[in-house]
Amino acid sequence: MSDIVIQVENLSKYYNLGVVGTGTLSHDLNRAWAKLRGKPDPTLRIDQTIQQFNNSTGKASDDYIWALRDISFEVKQGEILGIIGRNGAGKSTLLKILSRVTAPTSGECRVKGRIASLLEVGTGFHPELTGRENIFLNGAILGMTKEEIKQKFDEIVAFAEVEKFIDTPVKRYSSGMYVRLAFAVAAHLEPEILVIDEVLAVGDAQFQKKCLWKMGDVSKEGRTVLFVSHNMVAVQSLCQKVMLLDKGEMVQNGPANQIVSNYLRYCLTSTQMDQVWKNQDEAPGCEEVRFRRISIQINDQDNNMITMETPFLVIVEYWNEIPAACLHITLHIRNEQGIVAFTTGSCQEPGWNGQSLEKGIYRSICHMPKNLLNSGRHSITILVVRDLANIIYMYEDALVFDIVDNRDRSGGWFGKEPGVVQPYLEWKTEYVGSKIPSQRLLKR
Ligand SMILES: Nc1ncnc2c1ncn2[C@@H]1O[C@H](COP(=O)(O)OP(=O)(O)OP(=O)(O)O)[C@@H](O)[C@H]1O
Ligand SMILES: [Mg+2]
Repeated sequence: MSDIVIQVENLSKYYNLGVVGTGTLSHDLNRAWAKLRGKPDPTLRIDQTIQQFNNSTGKASDDYIWALRDISFEVKQGEILGIIGRNGAGKSTLLKILSRVTAPTSGECRVKGRIASLLEVGTGFHPELTGRENIFLNGAILGMTKEEIKQKFDEIVAFAEVEKFIDTPVKRYSSGMYVRLAFAVAAHLEPEILVIDEVLAVGDAQFQKKCLWKMGDVSKEGRTVLFVSHNMVAVQSLCQKVMLLDKGEMVQNGPANQIVSNYLRYCLTSTQMDQVWKNQDEAPGCEEVRFRRISIQINDQDNNMITMETPFLVIVEYWNEIPAACLHITLHIRNEQGIVAFTTGSCQEPGWNGQSLEKGIYRSICHMPKNLLNSGRHSITILVVRDLANIIYMYEDALVFDIVDNRDRSGGWFGKEPGVVQPYLEWKTEYVGSKIPSQRLLKR
């Protein structure tokens, strides 16, 4: 059909686990730059080796992982497709294949029109070039003339709010500035297909809102948007259709509301209150920071149950690989409807003033008081934040736990009280007299 702009058939991608952690970024960047310079793809060799290996043995080795397995779908022109799934589901891999940053191991994807991508690794920018030069480079890659790019230039710079730094090499940009410019470039250079990976995880709330509006506008202009996000509220409000991936496989594909609510239910199937990683390379995280342990602990070890009246600790231990980094941990506590009950961060610690942390292992402990959350299933997403504003890693639903309702209602209402929180607040009722006050008195 003519209005189909992306057609993916039996797409699979195999990765060598030996290069996880150290290899991810450089491997992908090398490939992107080789492509830009018209050089052969340096990663093709590994894919071919895997292919040969596969053909000869017919089965996978333990050292490899299927990041994507047998994915097929179509996207129509002007659609906004949301792609959701837990960490490691294959979302970024799918976007990288569609953007031709990495090659599939098998299967096919046909894309009609120019793609502009904002991938999690920001592959579209050359670090040595200035913001200005990168805008022209990206425009040229998209096949635009110098004149066309010039017309868009001011709009891009204003949107990204980087006027002062436009002639600075982007390697000197903060990660927030980098992403702002990358988004502005991708969204304004009039691609037929816009591919956005996790932009909402980076940058401040104001900018995130601006990006969502912009994506909506892009699709109203008849262009197609593929949007990967962990923010279910954003996905639901922006996308008509959503695809749910899990462990490289497509679990569901359909109307946004239905798929998102299935996902929230399916995500929270079992509790997860303690996770430990002995090997740093296998731990969730990014190049800068990896988790070592995340757990919920309560005092009463015999009775491993959290009631509304149980105070508990959220413990996050991590390896910091950045010398002199200003880091803190933020928690997003969600209820079973996916509503964020509240957020809290280790920067609230008394005496915290943005001091830098040396390389090493750190432990942040958050004390959750009793009588705060309502009963029911909850999850905690853990974010690692750098320089107070830049989220460098987000671990969605890292902890999942139940809060049991054991409040004594003494014969009153026994159902679940509405509300995401159920704090015990201070109340006072006092006798103010037996007579109805006269109008005259009330006026005074
Ligand atoms: N370059 C790479 N080398 C080896 N393994 C990789 C590489 N890139 C991704 N993987 C693995 O492939 C799987 C899918 O990763 P991918 O980054 O696509 O997941 P994701 O859904 O984007 O996760 P997240 O929500 O954390 O961003 C994971 O198991 C990951 O460890
Ligand atoms: Mg990803």
